[in-house]
This record gives sequence, C-alpha cells and structure tokens, in this order.
Amino acid sequence: MLRLQVPGLAPAQPGQFIHLTCGPDLTLPRPFSILDSDSANQTIDLLYRVTGEGTQRMTTWQTGFVTPVLGPIGHPFTVPPTGTQAILVAGGVGLAPLDFLARQLAAQGIATTVLWGIETDPPFPVEPDPVQGWSVLSHLHARGIPSRLAAMTPRVGFFQGTVVELAADHLQPLTALERKDLMLYTCGPTPMMAALALVAERFGLRGEASLEARMACGFGACVGCVALMAAGQYRRVCVDGPVFALAEVDWRQRGL
Ligand SMILES: Cc1cc2nc3c(=O)[nH]c(=O)nc-3n(C[C@H](O)[C@H](O)[C@H](O)COP(=O)(O)OP(=O)(O)OC[C@H]3O[C@@H](n4cnc5c(N)ncnc54)[C@H](O)[C@@H]3O)c2cc1C
Ligand code: FES
Repeated sequence: MLRLQVPGLAPAQPGQFIHLTCGPDLTLPRPFSILDSDSANQTIDLLYRVTGEGTQRMTTWQTGFVTPVLGPIGHPFTVPPTGTQAILVAGGVGLAPLDFLARQLAAQGIATTVLWGIETDPPFPVEPDPVQGWSVLSHLHARGIPSRLAAMTPRVGFFQGTVVELAADHLQPLTALERKDLMLYTCGPTPMMAALALVAERFGLRGEASLEARMACGFGACVGCVALMAAGQYRRVCVDGPVFALAEVDWRQRGL
C-alpha cells in the first residue's frame, strides 16, 4: 500500500484512477486505481503489485519524494438504487477500487459482499468470521461488510478455487427475485472478469467491470487504450471507462 499527498486533490470516487509518474526517465506514467481518498487531508491510497520497472521504483520511495500525479481520472462505478444487493468480485490488486466501493456502498445502506481471489499473503489483516468460521477482511468486518477469500492452493479459512467459482457458489442459492435486485462489480485480471461476465449472463445479472488497458496519455488524446465493445465500436478505457457495464464489453476479444 502507498499513501500519496496530492495538493489540490479533487474528490475521488471508487473506480477512478490516477496516472502516476514513476521516474523522470520513465516516459509514460502508470495507471493505479484509487483504494481510498481523503479530500480533507489531500491524500490518496494505492494498493499495488510489483510487475516491472515503474512499480519496482515505487517500493523505494521515501517520505518527501515528489512526483507528478494526474487525476482522479475516469468514470467511477455506478451507485445502485437503495434495496439493491451488491456483490463485489476482485482478483489480486483489483481489490483496490472495490474495497473503496464497498465502503461507499455500505455507508449508503446498500447490502454489500466482497469476494476476493488472492494467491499471495493478503496485504490486509484477516480474521475468522465468528459465525461462519471462514477468513474475512478485518477492516471490512469492522464496518459490517461481509467478505470471503478464495485461493487455488488450500489455505485455512479460504474457499479453494477461483474467485469466479466462489461467486457462482454464492449466487446459486439465490432466488430469481433476489437476483433481480443484485448488482455485480468486478476488477481484476481480464480472463477472470471475462469468466465472471459469463456467470452474470447465466444468472441474468447486471454488473460493471473496471477494465485493464495499457495507457499512454491517460486523458483521452492518444487512443492507445481502446477496448472493443460488444456493439462493435472501440471505447477509450482512460476517459470512457475504466468502468463499463459487463454486458457492454466484447469479452471474447478480451480473454475468452
Ligand atoms: C485503470 C487501471 C487501474 C490499475 N490499477 C492498478 C492498481 O490499483 N494496482 C496495481 O498494482 N496495478 C494497477 N494497474 C496496473 C498497473 O498500471 C501496471 O501494473 C503498471 O503500469 C505496471 O508498470 P511497471 O512499470 O511496473 O511495469 P512494466 O511492465 O515495466 O510497464 C511497462 C509499460 O506497460 C504498462 N503496463 C504494464 N502492465 C500494465 C497493466 N496491467 N495495465 C496497464 N498498463 C500496463 C505500463 O504503464 C508501462 O507503460 C492498473 C491498470 C489500469 C489500466
Ligand atoms: S491512454 Fe491515451 S486515450 Fe487513453
């Protein structure tokens, strides 16, 4: 996790991201979802995974290091009407925007459950759910937000399998009436979201996904981040997204 002080920070909403310069010699900034934002203290929290040069550099930053930040950028997740039940399905660092969303939805009285697939040690404290016994995220549990964790390798308190299998397991017992008032939200690796889109189709559920794309400008000018939509047109992930309706995206082109 990384906390940045961003003077003049505009209020950020879950699903928006920042474009962060990771070094003066690294030409392109890197996009990161906002895990949390505090307008009063002008801070933004990120949850990041080291995948290359830029994220490696981030691990070396000390207090006082200064670097350009662009954002918040992009369309956030939609807040559903009161009475909706929200299921948030995250893979790896895809938890960042969904954790932010879970806290926002719960604060607005929307019943929210977080399902998280994580193969490494979770970067947040977990504890056993006092009723169910399985592992839950402590910071969400403290706010009354149920969560469940999934991993492919056997781990105490975790569902063994993919988080999409966990989501299907969770959705299966729901009645048609309960499914009508349910909204899925997802962020994670593209094949995971593509598989979840199939589950959503099978259960007739609405949903939204925060898409991944390689970005250059981050403000809509270069058209380097486009994603193909089911209707055949291309949309820019940076400014038209990163959040799109699940049914809007051509998932066959993105990982099926
Ligand atoms: C909207 C959005 C939100 C994201 N949120 C997060 C987050 O919260 N936490 C997190 O750890 N990662 C997030 N990512 C992925 C993150 O941007 C990449 O992991 C990061 O850019 C890799 O940079 P690097 O220099 O370490 O890797 P390198 O592989 O060295 O990067 C080389 C180039 O490829 C681009 N690139 C590499 N991987 C990705 C990727 N998956 N998506 C987009 N561009 C990529 C980089 O921006 C850079 O221009 C997000 C991506 C997008 C599009
Ligand atoms: S990154 Fe340039 S248009 Fe999206």
